Order: sequence, then structure tokens, then C-alpha cells
Amino acid sequence: MSFWKGLFGSAGAATTKEPAQTARADRRQETVVVRGETILFSLDPNLDLYELEELCDAVGWSRRPIHKVRKALQHSFLVVSMWQQRGSYRRLIGFARATSDHAFNATIWDVVVHPDFQGRGLGKRLMEKVIQELRARDISNITLFADQGVVSFYERLGFTADPEGIKGMFWYPR
Ligand SMILES: CC(C)(COP(=O)(O)OP(=O)(O)OC[C@H]1O[C@@H](n2cnc3c(N)ncnc32)[C@H](O)[C@@H]1OP(=O)(O)O)[C@@H](O)C(=O)NCCC(=O)NCCS
Repeated sequence: MSFWKGLFGSAGAATTKEPAQTARADRRQETVVVRGETILFSLDPNLDLYELEELCDAVGWSRRPIHKVRKALQHSFLVVSMWQQRGSYRRLIGFARATSDHAFNATIWDVVVHPDFQGRGLGKRLMEKVIQELRARDISNITLFADQGVVSFYERLGFTADPEGIKGMFWYPR
């Protein structure tokens, strides 16, 4: 059976390994304790965009016009932010979002964990939350574009590069 037929046929399977927790109904906020630190996951797309810009600056990403970032978030299918929570203090430490056709496909974008919090399993938690929320919305084909240095981070989460030789292709204005 071809890759696409298998994916969209009646016996369609997800391209990713299921996260540890099974898909559940949408919960706007979820708190977990990781190594003694309270971490909050939020699905609220109304973020302080300057705080998000600071997070992206911290990992060296090129700045993008705030009005375009606002538009991108408004039109995203899923926005997941990750916060360090200490009492009433909250700090944005991670972010990911997904676009979708709302039926079959979703593509994950802008996965980031603040360098102060990397290497503690939080990137994995963030991605598991994204996958869990997409599966809860019955999305079976989850894709992303991995920078060269993070391919094995995604492979550990069950993502496969070029399944059955299928290649991602890009068009850029010349
Ligand atoms: C990639 C990123 C999200 C990973 O977040 P993190 O919190 O450090 O990752 P975790 O601690 O959850 O790591 C989970 C697993 O992936 C591995 N891993 C983490 N970063 C990795 C990398 N760059 N390459 C390969 N494996 C990696 C870890 O060793 C760990 O393995 P284990 O489960 O066997 O112990 C984070 O490093 C980041 O924000 N980088 C800058 C932005 C970026 O490159 N985003 C991706 C754009 S495509």
C-alpha cells in the first residue's frame, strides 16, 4: 500500500508514534512538575508577542515583523506555549504551533525551548503536548520541517524523514 493511500484510507495511520499519554479532550491549560519545577502548558493563542520575540531571540532566530507573527498565530490551528510558573510569576520558556486543513493534515512550526531550560526533557514534553492535541482533533498526518541539527530530536519522538522516499519540496521567489 502506498504511503498516501495508507495514510488517508479507512485504515489510515498516523506518521508519528503516539505520545505516552493517550489523546484527550482539549484542555486550555495543564500544569506538570518537571524536576521540581512547575511547568504550565497553555493553548491560548493570545500571547505577548514581544515575550515570544525574546524567546526566539534567545535561540538566535532571525526577527520577523510582529504584525506578521500576530497574523500567523491568529491563523494557526494550534498554539502551545510552555511557561515556568512560580507563584503568580510566569515566564515563557517554550513555544510551538501548527497549521492544518482541520481534517487530515497538520504541520508543526516554530518549536523552541529557551536555552536556560533545554536538555531537561521539556522539548519532548512540548512536542508530546502538540501531538496529543492534534490527535485529539483527529489529525492523522503530522509533518514538520526539521533543521539539520535537530533531526534526531524529532526521530526520537517518532517522526520519520522521507517516508517511502517522499521528499519535502520548496519554492522560493527568485
Ligand atoms: C530542539 C529543542 C526544541 C530541543 O528542546 P530540549 O528541551 O533541549 O529537548 P529535550 O531535553 O526534551 O530532549 C529530548 C531528547 O532529544 C534529544 N535532543 C535534544 N536536542 C537535540 C538535538 N539538537 N539533536 C539531537 N537530539 C536532541 C535529547 O538528548 C533527548 O534525548 P533522550 O530522550 O534520549 O534523553 C531545543 O534545543 C531548541 O529550542 N533549539 C533551538 C530552536 C530549534 O532549533 N528548534 C527546532 C527548529 S526545527
